[in-house]
Amino acid sequence: METTNLLEINKENLPQHIAIIMDGNGRWAKQRGMPRLFGHRHGVKTVREIAEASAELGIKYLTLYAFSTENWSRPELEVKGLMSLLVETLKIELNALKKNKIRLRAIGDLSQLPEKTQQALLMGMDETTENNRMDLILALNYSSRWEIMLAVNQIAQDSKSGSLQLPLDEAGFSNYLSTRGIPDPELMIRTSGEYRISNFLLWQSAYTEFHFTSVFWPDFTKQHLYQAILDYQGRQRRFGKTAEQLKI
Ligand code: IPE
Ligand code: IPE
Ligand code: MG
Repeated sequence: METTNLLEINKENLPQHIAIIMDGNGRWAKQRGMPRLFGHRHGVKTVREIAEASAELGIKYLTLYAFSTENWSRPELEVKGLMSLLVETLKIELNALKKNKIRLRAIGDLSQLPEKTQQALLMGMDETTENNRMDLILALNYSSRWEIMLAVNQIAQDSKSGSLQLPLDEAGFSNYLSTRGIPDPELMIRTSGEYRISNFLLWQSAYTEFHFTSVFWPDFTKQHLYQAILDYQGRQRRFGKTAEQLKI
C-alpha cells in the first residue's frame, strides 16, 4: 500500500472523535487456516497501534466497538475467549495507557459481563481517570437500541417522579445516553468490507462521515487511519445547507 504522509493531514481539521467498527478478525484468521480467536489476538495489536497513533495525532476521543449485545449469539468458546482476551489485554496495556496519558472508558451494559472482565475494566478506568490526552472508549456489550431503550425508560421514570420536566430537547435526550458528555463522532470507520452500522451509535452518528475499507481489522495500520482521516478531510460537511452557502 502506498504510504500516506502524515504531513498531508491538516491538523486544523481533525475529527475530535473517531468511532471504529473493528471487523474482520474471524475472516483474517480463516484465511490463514487458524481459529477465530487467533484473529482476535491479532486484532488487539491493531487496537494498540491505532490508539497510540490517534493520541499522537491529537484525536480527543476514540470509540472502539469491541463486543455488541448481539455478539452473545456467537459460539460459547469464542465468547469466553473474547472475554478472557479482554481481561488479559487490559492488564498488559494498563501501563501503556498510563504512559500515553490515555483515559480508559466504557459504554454498554457492563453489569452483564463476567465478573473478572468487569473488575479489570473498573481497575483500568479507575487508574486512568486523571488522564486527559485522549479518551479511549470501549463499547462492550453495547448496542444502540439497548442504549436508547434504557434512556427512554429512565426518562419515563424521571418524569413520573417529577425530577424531569418534559418536553426534553435533543441535548437533554443525549444526556440520558451512555455517551453523555462525549461529542458525536465526526468520523466512523468500518473495516472488512461490510457496509452496515450493526447497532452502533445510531443517535450519535446522525451527521457522522463514514469511511469503509475492505482491510480486515488485524491488517489495519496507522497508514490506513491516516487515509481515513484524509478521506474525511476531503468531505464537505453541509449539515443540510447547500454547497454555495458554505462558500460565503
Ligand atoms: C470483529 O471481527 C470482532 C468482534 C466482533 C469481536 P469478527 O469476529 O466479526 O470477524 P468476521 O466478521 O467474522 O470476519
Ligand atoms: C459488529 O461486528 C460488532 C463489533 C465490531 C464488536 P459484527 O461482525 O458482529 O457485526 P455483524 O453482526 O456482522 O453486523
Ligand atoms: Mg464481523
